[in-house]
Amino acid sequence: MMSEPETAIGSERDTGAAPLGLLEGLATTRAIRRYLPDPIPDEDLATILWHAGRAPSGSNRQMFRFVVLRDGPAAPQAKALLGECFRNGWNAKRTGDGYTAGSGADDDSPKARMARTMQHFVDHFEETPVVILACLVRYRRPTPTEGGSVYPAVQNLLLAARALGYGGVITGWHREVEDELRELLGIPDGVAIHATIPLGRPVGRHGPVRRRPLGEVVYEDRWEQVAPWAVDPPGTHFASAGPPPGSPV
Ligand SMILES: Cc1cc2nc3c(=O)[nH]c(=O)nc-3n(C[C@H](O)[C@H](O)[C@H](O)COP(=O)(O)O)c2cc1C
Repeated sequence: MMSEPETAIGSERDTGAAPLGLLEGLATTRAIRRYLPDPIPDEDLATILWHAGRAPSGSNRQMFRFVVLRDGPAAPQAKALLGECFRNGWNAKRTGDGYTAGSGADDDSPKARMARTMQHFVDHFEETPVVILACLVRYRRPTPTEGGSVYPAVQNLLLAARALGYGGVITGWHREVEDELRELLGIPDGVAIHATIPLGRPVGRHGPVRRRPLGEVVYEDRWEQVAPWAVDPPGTHFASAGPPPGSPV
């Protein structure tokens, strides 16, 4: 989670720049948590969800389903339920992950800026132009890999949104109000809610995405055996959260 928050306005559509290449999109699609109030037109939503639906799934069953919350009758209540548990989720994370401790005490540190972005995100959740629940119709007992039939579609959704000048973020803070959401939106028990994706036109900008050096995540032949060819392109930006490399698994 700890990478720097988005900072300046910009999107392909705003600037009229050339269409975004696939690899550039992959390298620059950030988690976006601040949105302009602009609605997302039907046509753009359809394009985004069509591309989400091009994702692979087990046996091509395509049991992913998307519940789109905009300005329909249930949307304000659903967003209010989610907003409350997003604020609880962030509160717990801020304390648990020590966002105000260490470098977080310095207002200019990436940690403090990230904390401000998160606070703004949860405080304004109800104003998010579009919130999408990514669901999976279960056709067998839950397995550890069932998310593999919904998360590729979720990432496609974010990449398609990015291509049209929108941004969003995968979140899992809906769990606390899952029962209430099911009742409100008529989501049956056999359907898993795997992610909540707020979406809108970014206040900040995307990219570059910061990740661990490639050599830390790619091995050749054996666990932890260095792959000498696994090198990052020049200019790659790095970031990571969690334990340092070499820590016990
Ligand atoms: C499975 C999953 C669950 C996540 N849950 C949350 C969440 O509950 N709240 C949130 O703000 N971000 C959540 N995120 C977003 C991550 O924090 C974010 O993708 C990551 O920090 C990388 O951000 P970046 O692309 O801007 O570097 C989640 C991401 C994934 C893949």
